[in-house]
Amino acid sequence: MEILKCLHVKARGEVYPCSEIRRFLVPDDKVDWEVPWTNYNPVDYTAPALLKQPPWADPPYRDEGELNKLLKFNQLDGDVDRRSYTGKYQVINGFPRNPCGRTGLKGRGLLGRWGPNHAADPIVTRWKKEGGKRVTHNCSGKPVLQFVAICRRDNKEWAIPGGMVDPGEKVSATLRREFGEETLDSLSLPEAERQKVKELISSLFQAGEMVYKGYVDDPRNTDNAWMETVAMNFHDETGDSVGKLNLQAGDDAGAVKWMDIEEQQKLYASHTHFLHQVAKAKNAHW
Ligand code: BGC
Repeated sequence: MEILKCLHVKARGEVYPCSEIRRFLVPDDKVDWEVPWTNYNPVDYTAPALLKQPPWADPPYRDEGELNKLLKFNQLDGDVDRRSYTGKYQVINGFPRNPCGRTGLKGRGLLGRWGPNHAADPIVTRWKKEGGKRVTHNCSGKPVLQFVAICRRDNKEWAIPGGMVDPGEKVSATLRREFGEETLDSLSLPEAERQKVKELISSLFQAGEMVYKGYVDDPRNTDNAWMETVAMNFHDETGDSVGKLNLQAGDDAGAVKWMDIEEQQKLYASHTHFLHQVAKAKNAHW
């Protein structure tokens, strides 16, 4: 498993998602916190929805240092896992500090948790076939893999059907839940069929390969809150299990589909990187 070397880029995108807030621009050579930058003046932004304190989010802070008393960073805090896959992160004046450097924005932006926000990404794959035979790519001569992709509601980008780990939830459970929710809900199946598909998913998800575990270069990241994920590959080698699902047939056609894995595919956050790892591991076309 490879750890993403992070010179984050999406986490420094000029306009913060779902807002008109512009980040303080951080050039590549100033990303590292170790590089002194006295004029660094990040914008302070926490989305209005978070200030209403929804149950999935941490409380806002009132004064510096208060956070530290309220939340237990770098450890399991009740049901909320505030440990980072990147190791121990710094907490400066009560605020956790992004382990991959400056982002030009402080506060939480759209993220619920101060510090790491944990997600899980199930990469379900099958071999692309035509007339029962594996399709090989003209250029590489290698067989083409396909994965289950969803079109995200928030920004309409294609992505792996991942989601956030609920407090107290095991990552393996999140992987299965998110995949089930995202794909099954888009297929309007009669209850009996739905049950069968659920069983197929359960058995495929019993064994997966770890693809990535760590920080994600996500556009929502801030100096004090960031995304981390575990991406796992669940591969249907014969195409007899989840691989036989005809995903295009749903009512909401286009929202979930089998997508060819190839370099040109532009996907959400670090998802292209995860798929590259899968293609390499399976010696498939990229
Ligand atoms: C998404 C995951 C993604 C993570 C980090 C989550 O909101 O559901 O698919 O990997 O954010 O970008």
